[in-house]
Amino acid sequence: MTHSPTVVSAARPTAARWWQNGLIYQIYPLSFMDSNGDGSGDLRGIISRLDYCRWLGINAVWLSPIYPSPMIDFGYDIANFTDIHPLFGTLSDFDALISEARRLNLKILLDYVPNHSSDQHSWFLQSRSSRNNPHRDWYIWRDPAPGGGRSNNWLSAFGGSAWEWDENTGQYYLHSYLKEQPDLNWRNPAVQQAMLDVLRFWLDRGVSGFRVDSIAHLMKDTQFRDNPLNPDWDPATGPYFRYLPVHSRDHPDSANVIRQIRQVIDAYEDCVIIGEAYLSLERTVAYYAAGVHLPFNFALITSPWTAREVHRIITTYESRLGPDQWPNWVLGNHDRHRIATRVGRAQARGAAMLLLTLRGTPTLYYGDEIAMLDVPIPARLVKDPWELNVPCLGLGRDPERSPMQWDSTNHAGFSTAIPWLPVASDFNRFNVAVESQEADSVLTLYRRLIALRAEKTALHSGSYGEVLCEDHVLSYSRHSGSESFLIALNFSDEPRTFEHVGLRGSISLTTALDRASEPVTEKLLLRPDEGVIVEI
Ligand code: GLC
Repeated sequence: MTHSPTVVSAARPTAARWWQNGLIYQIYPLSFMDSNGDGSGDLRGIISRLDYCRWLGINAVWLSPIYPSPMIDFGYDIANFTDIHPLFGTLSDFDALISEARRLNLKILLDYVPNHSSDQHSWFLQSRSSRNNPHRDWYIWRDPAPGGGRSNNWLSAFGGSAWEWDENTGQYYLHSYLKEQPDLNWRNPAVQQAMLDVLRFWLDRGVSGFRVDSIAHLMKDTQFRDNPLNPDWDPATGPYFRYLPVHSRDHPDSANVIRQIRQVIDAYEDCVIIGEAYLSLERTVAYYAAGVHLPFNFALITSPWTAREVHRIITTYESRLGPDQWPNWVLGNHDRHRIATRVGRAQARGAAMLLLTLRGTPTLYYGDEIAMLDVPIPARLVKDPWELNVPCLGLGRDPERSPMQWDSTNHAGFSTAIPWLPVASDFNRFNVAVESQEADSVLTLYRRLIALRAEKTALHSGSYGEVLCEDHVLSYSRHSGSESFLIALNFSDEPRTFEHVGLRGSISLTTALDRASEPVTEKLLLRPDEGVIVEI
């Protein structure tokens, strides 16, 4: 294939803030490092591995929830928003984490879960104690429908109805997730006040921002109308999408809440809010206007892995972003199967190159940098409530939450005890200690990509230029001043030749970590699954 040298490059803002030109690393605290030999990761464990984060070249660490919780949803069911679960440590361990992170020039971001609490939170215990309790309206209670039964057809994201009957007070309460996760009533100013104070509590302790959980669920239809049937429902996606959640999710009033959250954040220096919502690109981008700095862009997780599809995603996304809206990209997280499992280890190298050369902030999920795979979980060991409620559709999230593989010792160096979830069977081969010694490991590739991205303005802040997508090859360019790079990624397991009229340059990096400085003139041979960065 031959292409003209014309590069379409929109004028876009350049990155100035740490959350724009830096890299975010997600730690799932239960699985990162266990310091006290109980089989679960903890804060002291994370502190002991912060130097690894620094060595890797990341700028900010986002921790999934570390708060007191009955752990029905592994921390996303919070019983106290302003304390630390004893499993993870204490507030003074948290303070130590902040100060060690500062010393290493790393930012700490927390998970903020505003949509719901645990049913064990004192607010909910009071709320359900009687209809007259002052906390009754802190949650969403409804009478039965006139003929009896639930007041509407809303479903829980984790299976079954979103309404749970409370015998004691004769009403239903809403839970967009598990029945142990009742939804807070954000239309109540007292809830707003209390939940905004939660942000201040952690900001005062030195965090640099939040990943806001389930941000699209914050507000619901005031009339509680039924959701319409989904004409395109695919049962393989799970029961939740049987109805289109138009009245229970992505409500325009959420923007008012987000604006308040943003106001709190803006009173602190250089802090960020990142929003989690699995919405279309168009709807995702709408959350910028409400004040989210980085509404997570999950398109690379939710779409098929082909050059054409990825090209479509990038062009759609780039075309929808307004001038002040900074892009971001995510390859994996604790809710979705790992990238190396989804696309295979060979393609996962190209995925790493894509993540770290696209325009926008990358978020990297712990363990993806060492090519960790999902760990199959035998039925008797399943922990994830989603898998327990909606089994056998492959929705379960335990496989991508397995312990970090640090070295080849027992339990991959994660713990001295049997870990809460099984360690991958190939941990002897794929771990930090082994891969950090290898010139061509995935870990070395990540480090080199991260270092190159940090060093080159074109890569961390430059404009994006569409080149083309054809024949399983995706290519694009990045520019800043006199710096220009062309990135070409072969999505197939066969060799491809990429031709580009007028192309002249030399190879900076390949996914195999070879061919350094090889000159490139018009024709670039790409080996199976290979990705190449050419300095032009
Ligand atoms: C988000 C979290 C997920 C959690 C859910 C309910 O989607 O990422 O892990 O189960 O919200 O809080």
